Amino acid sequence: MKPTPLDHLDATVALLARPYTFVQDRARKAGADVFETRLLGQAATCVTGADAVRLFYDESRFVRHGAMPARVLKTLFGEGGVQTLDGAGHRRRKRGIFMRLVATDDRDALPELLAREWREALPSWSGRSRVELFAEVGLLLTRAVCRWAGLPPLDDRRARIVAAQLMATIDAPAALGPRYLRGRIARTEAERWAGRFVLRARAEGRDDGSPLSVVARHTGDDGALLDRHTAAVELLNLLRPVVASARWTMFAAMALHSDPSWRERLRTGDDPVDLDYFVQEVRRFYPFFPVTAAKAARSFDWEGHHFPAGRLTLLDLHGINHDPRIWGDPDGFRPDRFRGWEPNAYQFVPQGGGDPNDGHRCPADWLTTDLMKVGVRALTRWMTYTVPPQDLRIPPFRAPAQPRSRFVVADVAATKHAQED
Ligand code: HEM
Repeated sequence: MKPTPLDHLDATVALLARPYTFVQDRARKAGADVFETRLLGQAATCVTGADAVRLFYDESRFVRHGAMPARVLKTLFGEGGVQTLDGAGHRRRKRGIFMRLVATDDRDALPELLAREWREALPSWSGRSRVELFAEVGLLLTRAVCRWAGLPPLDDRRARIVAAQLMATIDAPAALGPRYLRGRIARTEAERWAGRFVLRARAEGRDDGSPLSVVARHTGDDGALLDRHTAAVELLNLLRPVVASARWTMFAAMALHSDPSWRERLRTGDDPVDLDYFVQEVRRFYPFFPVTAAKAARSFDWEGHHFPAGRLTLLDLHGINHDPRIWGDPDGFRPDRFRGWEPNAYQFVPQGGGDPNDGHRCPADWLTTDLMKVGVRALTRWMTYTVPPQDLRIPPFRAPAQPRSRFVVADVAATKHAQED
């Protein structure tokens, strides 16, 4: 690819202006799956396409330590968390905490707690003139995940504070001004709060297999417990992303609103496969994480491009989920595309790619889809509601994406299925 004059300028502003299409657009222009640019004042390489996913998750070529900008660590992830580890240290913590709890735990425990929260909340929603779905689902998820984690029950006020803090950390990394600051403050407070439970669990010698006790008892390569701060970061690495799935439940509600035939199909049908395709398509179609980042572990060449050791590299998660070489009609919402075809771990990457046991792929694809399924069941079978006029446009510059109105519903009524299903 011939460099254009633009390639010599820092592209951070362009990335922030179009976070979800930045890589795709420039790669298309370059006619290649890889191009070089400058981001945050340093040389960076952006990659897209299924082959790039294989490359990116090859641990001999990429490491995570030092890859995430400080603003992401100070809001979304926290410092010293599993996202920043490599090699044996990464595997030990990933398997010891996350794969153990998320990938092999009793699969239904957290979705069942969430279903209970939905059922309990519906009567109170029906008395309200409007319900902002995004915030309310975030609250239900917060209550459910804190209970699942083994934290003491949260009263209503505390649950709202924790939900707001976790959602603020998710909202902040790509923001400027007050939204970013809110995320910074929320992270400090949430870490302090989570750290207290870790210390208490240790003081009590708690060993009941709950997520809290697993984090509190986890030891590093040196056999020592995690320090209070790191343990708090990892406890929040379990709580926060569960609450993050509120965004996808909101998008599922938008999809039901824009295509009522799916609402009808899911309301009347009893086909778990339909529900699965619908939820997978929500994860593919709607924007959430635009990219993820790593650094070249050593110098190598790929597709005619040189990656010097230490080169910041961005993988185009959203673009790959809309790559026309993988997905027919990529910009159409078509759950039936999953019928008879299962994408592999390098083609469908809403939560990263490759093998979560060895690499940095999210440990919780199935858990996330199960939580979304509870939400979609609630929206289609357990309640009726109307969607008042509102601004449902999703600004292309906002990451993480959300409609301007955050999806408001009205006239909520619980159906008889709310207690029966
Ligand atoms: C809305 C739902 C979710 C989304 C969009 C999401 C997305 C992601 C993405 C994109 C990554 C990074 C992949 C990479 O950099 O290679 C990731 C990693 C991670 N996710 Fe999720 N995730 C979600 C739900 C969850 C849940 C429910 C949990 C845990 C209960 C979870 C825990 C983690 C952890 C611990 C990592 C770091 C893994 C590592 O670095 O090895 N996520 N997730």
